[in-house]
Amino acid sequence: MSDEYNQKNIPIKAQFSETTSGSSGSSKDIDYVRPAEDPEQDLYHGHSLITKWVFCQDAKIIRVQYFLTAVFTGIVGLILSWLMRLQLGYPDLVPFITAEHYYQFVTMHGMIMVVYFLTALFLGGFGNYLIPLMVGARDMVFPYVNMVSFWMFFIAVCVLMASFFVPGGPTGAGWTLYPPQAILPGTPGSNMGIILMLVSLSLFVIGFTMGGLNYLITILQARTRGMTLMRMPLTIWGIFTATALAMLAFPALLDYDDFR
Ligand code: HEM
Repeated sequence: MSDEYNQKNIPIKAQFSETTSGSSGSSKDIDYVRPAEDPEQDLYHGHSLITKWVFCQDAKIIRVQYFLTAVFTGIVGLILSWLMRLQLGYPDLVPFITAEHYYQFVTMHGMIMVVYFLTALFLGGFGNYLIPLMVGARDMVFPYVNMVSFWMFFIAVCVLMASFFVPGGPTGAGWTLYPPQAILPGTPGSNMGIILMLVSLSLFVIGFTMGGLNYLITILQARTRGMTLMRMPLTIWGIFTATALAMLAFPALLDYDDFR
């Protein structure tokens, strides 16, 4: 190791310096990986309850926040599916589930499951969990943006849940929110319901864009030495591809021209 890398004379911890592909006796190994020059640093890990759980920029905490919030939305989506199944199976038993309610349940179930549950769980939760571990990065490249990304998602979920309690209830326009049907009188939730859904989706897309940039750039720029793109685990390739596709697809949801 050259001295320029260790000008501060910081003691260096011994680490594995060779990959398994070389024979143990050989001095020159083309897969040789130099030991880390930088000592372990305390990054931005929170220490008090508030800095740890509210203003936390540590991917290890943010992934838990994403997991818990996504699982909460998943449970709401699951309960909606039970209500639909109940109506289909025993319509006489649940006369209070009207046709309008059923439309609202399908809409909210589909939207919650695909956007707020799956995307948040697999990209927000597993992205923050696996990317730093599997590419050998200490954290995400933009920890502050990572924190803001989660809170945008959290507020988006709160706005979405609020739509269950407004006059007219949540939107029942179908889970793709077909315009202009979504705002026509006669469609359940055509007033506040659809407005809150669009506000929530906007917040989600902005939050996801922040998170997505973080995942992509961490994968591209913060891999450990020796972790070439071709050596990168397939799981990370999967997260990378899904994020890139979502980054291209989700902003289209912000085009509200048809709703005018
Ligand atoms: C991809 C994420 C999704 C997951 C994890 C999911 C999960 C579920 C589950 C567990 C059930 C209950 C099944 C049962 O009662 O046996 C269900 C039912 C249902 N889901 Fe989904 N769902 C998803 C997406 C969607 C989408 C996009 C739609 C379309 C709007 C949808 C519409 C329905 C309907 C109509 C039912 C009731 C059907 C029935 O019980 O016969 N789901 N879903």
